[in-house]
Amino acid sequence: MRGLNGKIIVVTGAAQGIGRATALRLHEEGAKVVVADRNKAGADSVVSEIAGQGGEAFAVDLDVGSRQSWESAVGAIVATYGHIDGLVNNAGITRDSSLLKMTDEDWELVIDVNLRGAWLGCQVAVPHLKEKGGAIVNLSSESRWGAFGQSNYSAAKSGLVGLTRTLALELARYGIRANAVAPGTTMTPMIEAVPENVRKDWLPGIPLRREADPSEIASSIVFLLSDDASYITGQVLGVNGGSAL
Ligand code: NAI
Repeated sequence: MRGLNGKIIVVTGAAQGIGRATALRLHEEGAKVVVADRNKAGADSVVSEIAGQGGEAFAVDLDVGSRQSWESAVGAIVATYGHIDGLVNNAGITRDSSLLKMTDEDWELVIDVNLRGAWLGCQVAVPHLKEKGGAIVNLSSESRWGAFGQSNYSAAKSGLVGLTRTLALELARYGIRANAVAPGTTMTPMIEAVPENVRKDWLPGIPLRREADPSEIASSIVFLLSDDASYITGQVLGVNGGSAL
C-alpha cells in the first residue's frame, strides 16, 4: 500500500489480537510501529517479533483510559520520533451482562476504555499528528447496531462512529483523515474466551460462514491509514464476512 514507508504509526492494544496483527502488517509496509498497551510484556514481545524481522518498533506502556498515561506515552513517542503520522485506537474490552444485571463498574469501565480512551488518544495525539497526511482509525464493531448483553459495549462502539465522523469534520482542514473499521467476529483472545458452542451458533449469521482472521481486519485498518485511502474520511468500513447484509 502507498505512503506508509517510514511512517510513525501508534497502535493501541497492540500486544495481541487485531492490534498485534495490525502492527505486524504495518511493519511489512515499512512503517515504524509504536506498540502501545497496558500489557507491557506483551507489547515488548511484539516489538521483538518485528525487530527479529529487521523492522523498527517501539513499545509504550499505555492505559488508554488515563489522560496522564496518554500524555506520558505521547511525550515519549514525540521525544523519539518528533511527530506521529497515524493513530489506531484499537484497545478494547468487554464486560457483558444483560441490562438489569450490569453493574455501574461494568458500564463505566467499558465506556472508559473503548470510547473515552479513543477520544483521549485523539485529544492528546492530534496536536502531534502530521498535517496533510495524518490519519486516525478507530475500532468500532458490528455490535454498534446493538447486541444482547452488551449495552455498555454497543453504546461505546456506536459512540465511536459519532466520534469518528466528528473527527473527520473537524480535522479535514488540517488534511487529517479519520475513519472506523467495524469488524465482525474475529479469532482473537477476546473471542477465544467465548465457549465454542456459543460461537458455532453465530456462524449461520455470517454469509462467509467463518470468523475473520485478525490479519483480515488489519489489512483494512492499514488500507485506511495509507495514501491509497487519501480521499476517504468519516467512513465506517464493515469487515464482517457479510454479516450485516
Ligand atoms: P483482545 O482482547 O484480543 O486485545 C485487546 C488488547 O487491548 C490487549 O492487548 C489488551 O491488553 C489491550 N487493552 C485492553 N485494555 C487496555 C487499556 N485500558 N489500555 C491499553 N490497552 C488495553 O481484543 P481484539 O479482539 O484484538 O480486539 C481489538 C479491538 O477490536 C477492540 O476494540 C475490540 O472491541 C474490537 N473488535 C473485536 C472483535 C472480535 O471479534 N475480536 C469484533 C469487533 C470489534
